[in-house]
Amino acid sequence: MQTQTTSSMPVLEIRKMTQRFGGLVAVSNFSVTLGRNQLTGLIGPNGAGKTTVFNLISGFYQPSEGEIFINGTPTAGLKPHKVTSLGVARTFQNIRLWNQMSVLDNIRVAQHGSLDYGFFGAMFRTRSYVDCEAKIEKEARELLEIFELDKQADELPTNLAYGLQRKLEIVRALSEKPQLLLLDEPAAGLNSVDAQELIRLIHWIHETFDVTILLIEHHMDVVMELCSEIKVIDFGQTIAEGTPEQIRNHPAVITAYLGDDTI
Ligand SMILES: Nc1ncnc2c1ncn2[C@@H]1O[C@H](COP(=O)(O)OP(=O)(O)O)[C@@H](O)[C@H]1O
Ligand SMILES: [Mg+2]
Repeated sequence: MQTQTTSSMPVLEIRKMTQRFGGLVAVSNFSVTLGRNQLTGLIGPNGAGKTTVFNLISGFYQPSEGEIFINGTPTAGLKPHKVTSLGVARTFQNIRLWNQMSVLDNIRVAQHGSLDYGFFGAMFRTRSYVDCEAKIEKEARELLEIFELDKQADELPTNLAYGLQRKLEIVRALSEKPQLLLLDEPAAGLNSVDAQELIRLIHWIHETFDVTILLIEHHMDVVMELCSEIKVIDFGQTIAEGTPEQIRNHPAVITAYLGDDTI
């Protein structure tokens, strides 16, 4: 088990963030601080504003109000690729893989964000370009092996079972070597056996890699099993935060989920 570091700088700090779409307040006055190697859950009914929080952190939207800091750096005005270079990687609620590329190439392309040989190097295949490409391929293959996807390296993602596609998306995000990993409903669409396997995988990633994880999940049981801290939002408002035990018995949470058969 990895030891918790005592670095005082939060990996993610969000202060009083609000996001409006026209008249709709999708996220309201949202604050959170995540320390290094923390695994925190973000839950709430459909339409609560969870994915919007991820879109704001990763620079797809600029918040209407409030501030976001990654390792102390404000992300205001930064485009998504700049936020990525600060150490943020994410997966999507609906899987987004490059389906015309092999599994291996999906990983290789994701790793290119951190390269510095530039256009000239790529055009003329300079020594540093060739060395870099070799290193990337080696790392990509190693990563696929660790996650037992090496046998599918040359397949197109669409040929993989759905659960493996979900896994591949997480591996691709990890290949960017993030300090903050945002997982948006990774268990969506999985049967209970695959969902259990995914829980074990996320648990293992959290123990093995030095990465802070924010996990959106609709299935309460998944979040309860994985996260030490949980934040609950409903209609953009934070309605509860605390340990799984506190959340389970929280009246506002029970009300928010009432009639929701996924609880
Ligand atoms: N780009 C957008 N434009 C307008 N409304 C949006 C946009 N993105 C999300 N919303 C709205 O914001 C609310 C929160 O959506 P979302 O963050 O996707 O919820 P969740 O992920 O919790 O299900 C919903 O009412 C949704 O329709
Ligand atoms: Mg969502």
